[in-house]
Amino acid sequence: MSDQHVRPAAAGGDSSIGTDQAEGSERVHETATNADITRTAGEPNPEGTVVPAQDAHGAEVERSDRYENPGLPAHVYRRSDTDPKTATRREREVATFFGLSTLGTLLFIVAFFAIKPTNASGSEMLARVGLSTRLLGLGLGLALFCIGIGAIHWAKTLMPDDEIVSERHPMRSSDEDRAAAVAALKEGAAGAGLGRRKLIRNSLLGALAPLGLLALIPLRDLGPLPGASLDYTAWRPGKRLVTDPTGRPLKPSDLEIGGVIHVQPEGVDEMADPNAERAKAAVLVIRLAPDQITDPKQKKWAVDGIVAYSKICTHVGCPVGLYEQQTHHLLCPCHQSTFDVTRDCAVIFGPAARPLPQLPLEVNAEGFLVSKDDFQQPIGPSFWERG
Ligand code: FES
Repeated sequence: MSDQHVRPAAAGGDSSIGTDQAEGSERVHETATNADITRTAGEPNPEGTVVPAQDAHGAEVERSDRYENPGLPAHVYRRSDTDPKTATRREREVATFFGLSTLGTLLFIVAFFAIKPTNASGSEMLARVGLSTRLLGLGLGLALFCIGIGAIHWAKTLMPDDEIVSERHPMRSSDEDRAAAVAALKEGAAGAGLGRRKLIRNSLLGALAPLGLLALIPLRDLGPLPGASLDYTAWRPGKRLVTDPTGRPLKPSDLEIGGVIHVQPEGVDEMADPNAERAKAAVLVIRLAPDQITDPKQKKWAVDGIVAYSKICTHVGCPVGLYEQQTHHLLCPCHQSTFDVTRDCAVIFGPAARPLPQLPLEVNAEGFLVSKDDFQQPIGPSFWERG
């Protein structure tokens, strides 16, 4: 920064500062009788005492740091630390920001009391509301912004910025404290009398044992398992496509090129579990220009460019409801999986792993659009295909 310069400091700094007395750098054998147990110097052994560092012959050695202490880098003094005039200038700058903040507060107060939209009517009132809102926002913004900038400027240019080192201290309690804690625990256990008072002990065990059921029983709500119910939908050969929710049967002439409509199988609401059946059977019908369909299977299952696809996203099952007429893309709003309708709803973007399943269509004797059959692949998330 422009108002900083470096005053040379003692090379390497204070050797006592920044020392990392990392316990555990030397590996030593604990005792001659237990030579194959390796302990880390500085860590407690099973008796709770600290293993001292030892040389190859087992003699205790004084620990030394493994790495040379690099010390602190030279402190960079700011110009305001060394030049009183600069410090005074910075002080005035900070005060200016605080002064601007005060002006912002005054602006807010004046705007609040001086501009009364309720004293006018019609467009005059709207104009006053707009002016009042802008001035209130300006005043509040100025007050908060300048107070923040002033505080930051104060901290960065005038407040002490010396590096401060806090030495690391051993975290381990003293042997006396540890022994006292163990004694207190033993005393507490003896006082509770769990060994003597069998009635309390047994009833406590009886209370604790079923406690785990509280975590397990709610898992029951995950069931029942779907079984084969996801392998088929309410679409059957000859089922008429009806608009959702009005239930009007569809004819090919009801759809123009580029049109899209949401349909259900006729009679789905009379089925045993209508909500589940509607969720599985939701279909989008889209009319393309016949020459826009290139896939042979897609063409075979279409009627005059009208194609039908499951509306359930093959990622995790959101309804795919956004159709871009220009690009012929279907977009799932949940995680942006995008399907190209002209390529048999192949996935062209996003996390979905497979195309949307197509529903085969035909026209019945009365000229209505009907399904030729059920979907030929599982609808919805890809994991339903497994197992
Ligand atoms: Fe459609 Fe995730 S559910 S992209």
